[in-house]
Amino acid sequence: MSVLKQGKILVTGGTGYIGSHTVVELQNNGYEVVILDNLSNSNIKVLGQIATITGKTAEFIQLDLRDKAALVEFISGEKDITGVIHFAASKSVGESVKEPLLYYDNNICTLVNLLGAFAGRSINFVFSSSCTVYGEPDVLPVTELSPVKTAESPYGNTKQIGEEILRETASAGDSLKVIALRYFNPVGAHASALIGELPNGVPQNLVPFLTQTAIGKREFLTVYGDDYNTPDGSCIRDYIHVVDLAKAHVAAIGRMKENTMDAVYETFNIGTGNGSSVLEVIQAFQRVNGVTLNFRIGASREGDIVKIWGDVDKAAANLNWKAELALDDMLGSAWAWEKYINSNPF
Ligand code: NAD
Ligand code: WQD
Repeated sequence: MSVLKQGKILVTGGTGYIGSHTVVELQNNGYEVVILDNLSNSNIKVLGQIATITGKTAEFIQLDLRDKAALVEFISGEKDITGVIHFAASKSVGESVKEPLLYYDNNICTLVNLLGAFAGRSINFVFSSSCTVYGEPDVLPVTELSPVKTAESPYGNTKQIGEEILRETASAGDSLKVIALRYFNPVGAHASALIGELPNGVPQNLVPFLTQTAIGKREFLTVYGDDYNTPDGSCIRDYIHVVDLAKAHVAAIGRMKENTMDAVYETFNIGTGNGSSVLEVIQAFQRVNGVTLNFRIGASREGDIVKIWGDVDKAAANLNWKAELALDDMLGSAWAWEKYINSNPF
């Protein structure tokens, strides 16, 4: 199927987990893609995997967004970029508590450098934000108007500050349009099992630790607490398939291209609108994949919020986007990817 040339999109962090899946969806929708990544948390082999999936090769530049001079020089030569999807950042809550300056440098200074490199140009900008900005919600589901609480980690603070920088910069000028997507919990992998999450070291997040336990890389999974005020005592999250999440970015770029925004800065919750507990995820994983998981109940994890899921009606109404894939699809694809990467390490 021939697709119209839709324009050129810069994807920072495009060899990363969510970025790589978004590049696939952009290319499938006729966009030209330039990936900028310093490969600090991803592997160059992802480029070939993406090309195998889409049959198209994205331009790639290995560049650190903290290198302002190199970034300005690169962007000055890329006159036909009309949109930016900015994934590049550090994302570990725990690490951010130990290394706050690393997070302010890599998540805030890089954003400022990127905006500075595009100064004065008409750019449609999509920002990776996070439901972490809501903290522990008082009312569920959270909407985009729910209060943004004092961040519970430097990482969460960098997302709140990033949203503020973008809102103020878009409002101050007449060339920048911004959509901030507040992701809930992305999990799963592309149906081809050629791309997926590549955690560095011991995974901090539930699903990659779960799949590594199932394949035998980890002895057991610890459930961080089962005495919370929830139906089965374990924490509840809004898990969303990474492919659905990727498609939301294409929808956001499309909204800005069609100039149908209500303001120069908008935020959207990107989740399924449904909550699943840790124990429900474990049960579903075992059922879908026919695998018995070795897990134990342990102490609760400091800083964990008890329950959160999103109201996603605004995205449905304005982005013409809704999550289509269910928890079973997420966990089946996560397991297929774990088996693939275990047999074909990058
Ligand atoms: P990831 O680590 O897989 O991808 C980030 C990519 O950015 C990596 O390829 C890394 O090499 C690159 N990068 C980091 N610092 C860079 C720099 N200074 N210059 C150039 N490249 C750099 O992470 P992800 O899970 O794909 O997350 C992408 C974005 O989404 C991040 O901003 C993250 O904060 C946000 N987010 C992630 C989640 C999640 O659970 N994965 C949830 C909410 C929001
Ligand atoms: C999910 C649930 C854990 C591991 C984090 C960041 C957030 C965002 C997504 C970047 C929780 C439980 C986990 C384990 C467990 N990242 N769990 N055993 O904490 O909701 O969000 O990742 O933006 O900012 O905070 O995701 O996958 O770490 O945990 O029981 O070995 O699984 O307690 O209830 P979380 P998670």
